[in-house]
Amino acid sequence: MLNQYISLIKEGQPVAFPTETVYGLGADAQNRNAIQKVFKIKGRPADNPLIVHVSDRRQVQDFATDIHDDAEKLMDAFWPGPLTLIFRKKPEVLDIITAGLDTVALRWPNHPLSQQLITQTGPLVAPSANSSGRPSPTKPKHVKEDFGDDFPVINAGETNIGLESTVLDVSQEPYRIYRPGAISAKQIEQVIDKKVEITKSTGDNTPAKSPGTKYTHYSPTATVRWMTEDADLTDDSTLYILHNRPQKTTTDNILHYQGDYERMAHELYDRFRQADHGNFTTIAVEPFSKNLLTKPMVSPLLNRIEKAIG
Ligand code: TXA
Ligand code: MG
Repeated sequence: MLNQYISLIKEGQPVAFPTETVYGLGADAQNRNAIQKVFKIKGRPADNPLIVHVSDRRQVQDFATDIHDDAEKLMDAFWPGPLTLIFRKKPEVLDIITAGLDTVALRWPNHPLSQQLITQTGPLVAPSANSSGRPSPTKPKHVKEDFGDDFPVINAGETNIGLESTVLDVSQEPYRIYRPGAISAKQIEQVIDKKVEITKSTGDNTPAKSPGTKYTHYSPTATVRWMTEDADLTDDSTLYILHNRPQKTTTDNILHYQGDYERMAHELYDRFRQADHGNFTTIAVEPFSKNLLTKPMVSPLLNRIEKAIG
């Protein structure tokens, strides 16, 4: 089933494939031309580096140096899985991948098809398979919405997690989370027995350590905003997304996740895209109170919703 896609990648044609987080747009990490196509297809700024996806631990050494004990512990604990690690790079890593930085991002995704694919093709660069500025794809049809019906996508239905991997810089101490994801700061700290810093997205023009964090990820046609406390949830043109507050009446435009933040993360980008198909002009999300932040997936949800609000 994968053979045609393996051939395409070997010929230098990017292919969308499933991971446990979101669909990625994969291209051979040794093929500059193919990687150029990835930037072009996405409309991605050249100063935003790509994650190299591997299918085993040995491949890390082909890209990274200074792989210290803490990094080994993190790979032991969380790979394959939704944790991207940033290392000092080897000189031979293509500049187009790292956008000229002296670091490289690596991840071993935990999905049987990405595993089989990368085992056959070798390491793949893979940004999320969406046009720059659109929500990451969690379904094959999202990829086709952005890249066209004929775009090659390895179909594995919906992705499991629904939000992108945690990005953790271990190239210097203190280690720093640039993008929260399913692997939390607390889980990381427990494994290495050290505190990690968390970078707040600035959105300004200060030179970004992790360039991707400075770009608006998603500006939907619908306006995303935080719901006010006294909202009566009666505006037909608004999609209300609730997760915690008591709510007796529900209508077609009220979604209530009832504290199931995993499901909320799983569906968020699909809901954003649905709103763009014209039904709603506004998406109002119930704010997260501080005490919820320790719950799984709340901090990545907060991060992505803040980005969508802009
Ligand atoms: O879950 C994921 O990580 C998905 C799936 C497909 O694996 N991929 C993904 O890639 O989200 P992308 O390109 O959409 O996001 C990668 C993020 C960007 O914010 C980028 O700036 C950052 O990782 N990044 C990549 N290399 C970096 C580096 N050397 N230093 C700092 N940040 C880096
Ligand atoms: Mg992306």
